[in-house]
Amino acid sequence: MSSTPRLLEGRIALVLGAANKWSIAWAVGKRFSEAGAKVILTYQDERFAEKMIAMCASLENCSHFCCDLTQPAQVDALFSSIDKEHDGLDVVVHSVAYALREDLDGRYLDTSCEGFQIAHTVSSYTLTIAARAARPLMLKRGGGSIMTMTYHGSERVVPNYNIMGVAKASLEANMRYLAADLGPENIRVNALSPGPINTSAARGIAGFTTMLQYARDRAPLRRNTDTEEVADAALFMASNLSRGITGEVIYVDCGYNITAM
Ligand SMILES: NC(=O)c1ccc[n+]([C@@H]2O[C@H](COP(=O)([O-])OP(=O)(O)OC[C@H]3O[C@@H](n4cnc5c(N)ncnc54)[C@H](O)[C@@H]3O)[C@@H](O)[C@H]2O)c1
Repeated sequence: MSSTPRLLEGRIALVLGAANKWSIAWAVGKRFSEAGAKVILTYQDERFAEKMIAMCASLENCSHFCCDLTQPAQVDALFSSIDKEHDGLDVVVHSVAYALREDLDGRYLDTSCEGFQIAHTVSSYTLTIAARAARPLMLKRGGGSIMTMTYHGSERVVPNYNIMGVAKASLEANMRYLAADLGPENIRVNALSPGPINTSAARGIAGFTTMLQYARDRAPLRRNTDTEEVADAALFMASNLSRGITGEVIYVDCGYNITAM
């Protein structure tokens, strides 16, 4: 029996960006299900289908959908299916990012125009796409909570994070503009900013294990954060307990971001 408080009883939550058991999206989907939500978990393409369908089956009230967020027809299919199957939508978690591998190594200066555009489209603009599609379904419920996953590399230079740092800065500004647009309709938009966690996306950054070690040595809590801690913060942000918070970046990084030396 889970000890997770049933903060999302009767809520409908869409969690975008699950790839495998290490994904932040998977930990969040699992936590939301334990908290009583009906969860729709999405994965990007057929590469992830077999694993994600089996993992989803292990949760209470979890359905799955294949959706590449850069493909308008797939986004339409996802939100039409939610509209058909459910009575609106309360929560969206955007846990999606991508950059070309060669842009996550060496000098930022060498980023190609194509690499710049891909990173921004996938890692930032897809939040706007998801928020726009979710809005009518959230209005049916009298409001909602949208959250995305960012990283401290948006504000401070982290070696090799390069284009993703620039895309995360865009994502955070994107989140604030959405929060301003959607706030009058009682839709909140926030970002969680986890410290480094060993996931597939993170392993694409050159020198990632050094990042983990550095954060562990310097964070006030003297350890790395994990996906369970991010899932707990996401549960708070999805629930009514965070009803007064919008447009914020909430760090879940064992305090690393407050340090200078
Ligand atoms: N792991 C970390 O250290 C860390 C720290 C801070 C923030 N984040 C952020 O958390 C989020 C989730 O990453 P993760 O670490 O769980 O890794 P992950 O690889 O498990 O998740 C990234 C997901 O993005 C999906 N994705 C990429 N392009 C997509 C597209 N076009 N359409 C739909 N989905 C697409 C991938 O399929 C994958 O499921 C990302 O935004 C990442 O930047 C991660």
